Amino acid sequence: MLELNDVDTAYGAVPMLRNVVMSVQAGELVCLLGPNGAGKTTTFMTVCGVVRAQRGKVSVMGKDIAVLGTENLASLGVGLVPEGRRLFPGLTVLENLRLGYDAVSARGPNFEPQLEKMCALFPRIRERLRQLAGTLSGGEQAMVALARALIGEPKLVIMDEPSLGLSPKLIGEYFEITQEIHRRGTTILLIEQNAEMGLSIADRGYVLVKGKVAQEGPAKELLSSKVAKSLYL
Ligand SMILES: Nc1ncnc2c1ncn2[C@@H]1O[C@H](COP(=O)(O)OP(=O)(O)O)[C@@H](O)[C@H]1O
Ligand SMILES: [Mg+2]
Repeated sequence: MLELNDVDTAYGAVPMLRNVVMSVQAGELVCLLGPNGAGKTTTFMTVCGVVRAQRGKVSVMGKDIAVLGTENLASLGVGLVPEGRRLFPGLTVLENLRLGYDAVSARGPNFEPQLEKMCALFPRIRERLRQLAGTLSGGEQAMVALARALIGEPKLVIMDEPSLGLSPKLIGEYFEITQEIHRRGTTILLIEQNAEMGLSIADRGYVLVKGKVAQEGPAKELLSSKVAKSLYL
C-alpha cells in the first residue's frame, strides 16, 4: 500500500532523508520510530507529496505520489492524521468531520451513517458535535483528528505522532482505539516517538536516525534488540 524506494529528500541544500527504503503491506500496522528531528515528519510529508523526493520513488496505493498529487490521496483510500492534529479551530467538530468526509469522492457511503460510526467509536465526540474544535481539550482534539481521517473509511491511515501531548491515560486509550481500527482491517503507518507503546501494537517497525533507516524488523525483535535500544529505545 505504501512504498518508499531509495528516497532522498532535502530542504533546499540541506539533505534530510537518505536512501530510505520502507514499505507497508495491506493489513499491517507498521511503526516508524525515531528521536526528535530524525526526519519522521519529513517522511510523512514526502509520502503525502507535500515535500517532493529528490531521488527515488514514493508509491501510495500503487501510484507514484509525484503524479497522483496530495489532493487525491483521500479518494484513493488514504486517511491522514497530521502532526499537531491540524483541526480547523473555528469550525465545529461536526464541520471538521464533514470536511474529512467530503475529501473522499462522492461514491463513498452516506455521511450520517458514517458519523454515527464515529460517534460509536468515540463516544465523547457525540456530546461535542456543535462545539468549536479550537475549544476542545487536547485529548478530544486527538480523537476528532482521528475520526476525521477515519470517516471516509480509508484502507490506509498514516498518523504522525498522534499521542504527542496526551496524558498517559489518554495515550493508553488512543493506542487501544488504534489497535481496534487495525483489528477491523485498516492498514496503519504509525509514526511515534513512544517506542515501547508503538512497538507493543505494531507488526513491524523502522527506526529512523538522522534521516536514515538505522534498523528495521518485526516489532518484537526491535523491542528486544540491543542495537535499537542503544540507538534509540
Ligand atoms: N520546512 C522545512 N525547512 C527546512 N528544514 C526543515 C523543514 N521541516 C523540517 N526541517 C528540518 O528537518 C529535520 C527533521 O525534521 P522532522 O522531519 O520534523 O523530524 P521529526 O518529525 O522526526 O522530529 C529537522 O532538523 C528540521 O529542523
Ligand atoms: Mg515530527
